[in-house]
Amino acid sequence: MYFCRKTNGVYMTKLSVNINKVATLRNARGGNVPDVVKVALDCERFGADGITVHPRPDERHIRRKDVYDLRPLLHTEFNIEGYPAPEFIDLVLKVKPHQVTLVPDSPTQLTSNAGWDTKVNFAFLSEILDRLNKAGIRTSVFVSADAEMIEYAAKAGADRVELYTEPYASGYAKNREEAVAPFVEAGKAARKLGLGLNAGHDLSLENLNYFYQNIPWLDEVSIGHALICDALYLGLEKTIQAYKNCLR
Ligand code: PXP
Repeated sequence: MYFCRKTNGVYMTKLSVNINKVATLRNARGGNVPDVVKVALDCERFGADGITVHPRPDERHIRRKDVYDLRPLLHTEFNIEGYPAPEFIDLVLKVKPHQVTLVPDSPTQLTSNAGWDTKVNFAFLSEILDRLNKAGIRTSVFVSADAEMIEYAAKAGADRVELYTEPYASGYAKNREEAVAPFVEAGKAARKLGLGLNAGHDLSLENLNYFYQNIPWLDEVSIGHALICDALYLGLEKTIQAYKNCLR
């Protein structure tokens, strides 16, 4: 049974910075500027609780080499997300990050845009999760805010679910109470099943605090796009601090 982490009676939600955008910028010129490893270490120095990477088969963002380079140098939690194709599983079993997040995206997809249908993919996910669990890697399954999908993720053997928050982010401006409601229910369903709870996609300085206020038992948020864009204006250190402040 999983218990949400509390320190001095307060839930601690971790901020994992997704550095794929930094790799995209580097790849645009072919050299090593910006240096993905240095940026990751600076994120940690500025207060990030973890680093997330999403290596794709075409290596258009993070490359396999980045994953190997980062592993021994990071001091915080390393989360590798991606579609569990054989090459991905081979990579994560070699690298052994703290957490692997399974995402149902196709190789050519611009970005993840849906959670798993954990019922339809139950046998496939069970087999993959079993291999990762046996390797001692914490597992998380990317799902929509849907109690049935969460239930099947738990049955398949996931340690956590990561809620796909795009619908929350896109509904926030119009009616934030309505936008967050299904996520609160999903968060309760995960908690009842003893699952840890992560969230990510389109979370930002605008919408993060309200999400956290409503679901304070969140274990971790994984944020890339908005955070790296904010860093263009605020700088990386102030940006990370601003995001951390949204989780208090
Ligand atoms: N979580 C998952 C599973 C993702 O695929 C992504 C995008 O790569 C994120 C979180 C982060 O989303 P964003 O870049 O919109 O913050």
